[in-house]
Amino acid sequence: MEDGSAINEISKVMPSSYADCIIMGYDVTNKQSFEDIKTYWIDKIKNRSNIDLIYLLGNKIDLKDKIEVDENEAKEFADKNNIKYFQISVKNDINIQNFINDLKMNIETIDDNSPKLYGNPSKERYKVIFLGDSGVGAKTCLINRLVSIIYDDLTPSSNGASFASKFIKIKNGKEFLIDIWDTAGQEKYRGLNKHFLINTNCVILGYDCTRRESFDNIKNFWYQYVNDNAKVDLIYLIANKIDCADDEAVSEDEAKNYSKEKNMRYFPVSCKENIGIKEFWNDLCAECIKI
Ligand code: GTP
Repeated sequence: MEDGSAINEISKVMPSSYADCIIMGYDVTNKQSFEDIKTYWIDKIKNRSNIDLIYLLGNKIDLKDKIEVDENEAKEFADKNNIKYFQISVKNDINIQNFINDLKMNIETIDDNSPKLYGNPSKERYKVIFLGDSGVGAKTCLINRLVSIIYDDLTPSSNGASFASKFIKIKNGKEFLIDIWDTAGQEKYRGLNKHFLINTNCVILGYDCTRRESFDNIKNFWYQYVNDNAKVDLIYLIANKIDCADDEAVSEDEAKNYSKEKNMRYFPVSCKENIGIKEFWNDLCAECIKI
């Protein structure tokens, strides 16, 4: 809660809109982060939503020597408030699968007609996840273009994953939501990314057309990674940075042939110059509703 006012504003719109579940996290090596849950977040959630499924996650249990929050205290607090509790380490992948299994099991039992404070939870929604090497620009920069139309040359490399949701209304009046998951391309996050592939409808595999290696990694790693960890019918191959035509390291023909061979939809784009983004997005929306 470093900036209480900003978080306040964000939380007014974020957790309560069409949420089925709330996950609160604290750092087991930082007592204050747990106190914030006890003195601030719990009231906020209980007072402002009808959501029954709430998790409390104590992260960083890999740092055994630095733990400041007693596990029993956290458990007691969770039990008292009817919250599900897990101690995890995102870094070392400890207990993540147990948490996800529990979450999956409980989500499946949620009554879709249960009243929610905000939003309409019954709309159709599609989960789209962006994968690919670090720095290809076909993840964070592309998502920023899709969600808020902005582009920033100094976009920092992602760590972990982030989420945005976009409401779509198409000409025939059909309404749906596209949930967009950004992931981190760095190798150290690969273990984590596979968890986000659960229940994914569509995967976007992006590469940088000026970096041969990022395309080879789609062929030698990412494509198989998706097939090993998810059952997805709709996969896109996105060539980003086509504004740098002079530095092209992968020809359009080669990428097209490969995408055909693997039954992927291919789109060349430039996030920087805003080329091909609209075409890609329109296609994605049209294909999602066919799933
Ligand atoms: P990670 O977050 O590291 O996994 O990678 P990412 O795919 O999300 O990359 P990101 O979107 O952060 O973009 C990396 C950098 O590429 C950005 O900081 C931009 O400077 C640059 N970039 C993104 N799109 C373009 C583009 O279309 N053209 C050019 N020339 N540069 C781009």
